[in-house]
Amino acid sequence: MSYNTILLNKSAAISTITINRPKKLNALNKETIAELHDAIDASDRDKETKVIIITGSGEKAFVAGADISEFSNFSAAQGKMLAAEGHESLFDFIENLSTPVIAAINGFALGGGLELAMACHFRVASNNAKLGLPETSLGLIPGYGGTQRLPQLIGKGRALEMIMTAGMINASRALHYGLVNHVVAQEELLSFTESLADKITGNSSVAISTAIKAVNANFKSGVDGFQVEIQGFGDCFGTDDFKEGTTAFLEKRKANFPGK
Ligand code: COA
Repeated sequence: MSYNTILLNKSAAISTITINRPKKLNALNKETIAELHDAIDASDRDKETKVIIITGSGEKAFVAGADISEFSNFSAAQGKMLAAEGHESLFDFIENLSTPVIAAINGFALGGGLELAMACHFRVASNNAKLGLPETSLGLIPGYGGTQRLPQLIGKGRALEMIMTAGMINASRALHYGLVNHVVAQEELLSFTESLADKITGNSSVAISTAIKAVNANFKSGVDGFQVEIQGFGDCFGTDDFKEGTTAFLEKRKANFPGK
């Protein structure tokens, strides 16, 4: 499969998806969102891919937001549809994916770019990264999950300050806020993120996807996360991965999990 706006590179158990519109600071247009959906879906279905990394091309931007030129003359109804479709095809899709997704933030992560990073399961940033939700400076609010995921990650007061000021925070503040898990030099961003991904690939994909569901349940209204955890924990006992993991431990060897 070939894409116009993204690059997909598969290496062993890690698929790296690079958003590739550097002249537009990798802004998310309709085509990019559709291609990201397809590439993420294909990687998720691929039995060998155990971790997906999303990053941006160039040294300046991860993603500088949704492509403003595409929606500047939208009506209220079109705006609502844009957000709803984006949630379904990309942002909620990533959050609920069985395969772990890591954002490697290599520069500006603004608006839809920060929302994309926040939909990923966790984030690593380069030390030149700048993160923000500038939508209120455009007469908008974040529409791809930013009003929900930012307070989940950094707390309500800090989230509202970022949204109301429309300002950017640097990588060290993002680390301090817990918005990113690690900050590394730009030239080390991908290798560092891959080393984290490597650690994940050694563990049970089945257990990891069950853990993603259980953790996400904590943030879904009307869902009892503890019950989801109890059910998922029980389900694990019926898997080949559980047999392999416990047998390997008792035999004092490294587990060799069969895959997804
Ligand atoms: N949508 C569409 N195009 C965008 C974009 C976006 N979100 N962000 C950047 N671009 C385009 C610029 O229009 C410019 O295109 P051009 O060369 O054809 O004029 C190109 O990317 C480079 O951006 P530029 O603004 O010249 O770079 P800069 O270094 O001066 O500023 C930013 C960088 C990130 C501060 C600035 O581009 C910016 O504020 N972008 C918009 C951020 C935003 O509001 N995002 C939320 C959208 S909801």
